[in-house]
Amino acid sequence: MKELMQRLREASLKAITEAQDMDLLETLRVKYLGKKGELTAILRQMGQLSAQERPAMGQLANQLRSDIENAIEARKTELSAALLEKKLRDEALDVSLPGEKKPIGHKHPMYNVLDQIKDIFVGMGFEIVDGPEVELADYNFTKLNIDEGHPSREWTDTFYFTEDSSILLRTQTSPMQIHAMETRELPIRIIAPGRVYRKDEVDATHSPMFHQIEGMVIDKGVTMSDLKATLNLVVEKIYGKGTVTRFRPHHFPFTEPSCEMDIQCHKCGGKGCPTCKGEGWIEVLGAGMVHPKVLAGCGIDPDVYSGWAFGMGLERLAMGEYKITDLRLIFENDVRFLEQF
Ligand code: PHE
Repeated sequence: MKELMQRLREASLKAITEAQDMDLLETLRVKYLGKKGELTAILRQMGQLSAQERPAMGQLANQLRSDIENAIEARKTELSAALLEKKLRDEALDVSLPGEKKPIGHKHPMYNVLDQIKDIFVGMGFEIVDGPEVELADYNFTKLNIDEGHPSREWTDTFYFTEDSSILLRTQTSPMQIHAMETRELPIRIIAPGRVYRKDEVDATHSPMFHQIEGMVIDKGVTMSDLKATLNLVVEKIYGKGTVTRFRPHHFPFTEPSCEMDIQCHKCGGKGCPTCKGEGWIEVLGAGMVHPKVLAGCGIDPDVYSGWAFGMGLERLAMGEYKITDLRLIFENDVRFLEQF
């Protein structure tokens, strides 16, 4: 019996020290110490021993049980330490490694130009206002002195929402003049940038959606010379000091007198080149003195107050500034194009 226990001791301790995982250890525990285990089997034979032999054998058996138990515990501790070690090694994080750079992009070139213009006007005391793209025909046309029957109200030019032509996508930012005059305290100094819509086919210079910036000043004693001085200043800030402008007579129903402002081509200095299409001048905006009828329609007395307004196309400005030759590039948002700015 002693021999049996000695053999069990050797075999079990060897198996336990060599076990490579926790599951196997548990299997070994059952195999040696379980109810149907090898030690129990040996103990069952105790009955055959004499009374003198029994206590010594019992002691040996108890010793063996506790040695096996200790060996299992010791091996468990070793295995879990090794497991932790491996986990730490596998999950090690090298904080000195440079991170992965995610491309975050940047502002669209046209919005850079818009920001520049906003800064210029804010610096002169103007407020930036925002208004609806879905507009009443009243605000887009009628209150701007553009009566029923005017060609710009045609269904072929304008996106209408209703059969009676009363709701539309604004064709210009000028309705913001009306909103401002109806809702704001005098004097008024605002610019209103935003999208406008016209039924145009897409080509290198046309798009059914484009951006305008409206500007307006209403105060006592405002004259055409204020308009010219302010716009000249703005042009010099955008295109550089000494940029020459020219104000040509024009017609808009909501301004009187009306004009268009050109700048002398900054590329050729007025001699004529591809940038100015040989003209020497580049058209920049439409402007004029706010029509007395429009002022009166908004409840402002044209005998006391006067004002000027302008509207300019943002895409055209950005194209000039960044030498972009095709309008479609501005809207396609191809990153290969946008990346260049
Ligand atoms: N709204 C006019 C256009 O789209 C531009 C303009 C604005 C003219 C303000 C005069 C005053 O062409």
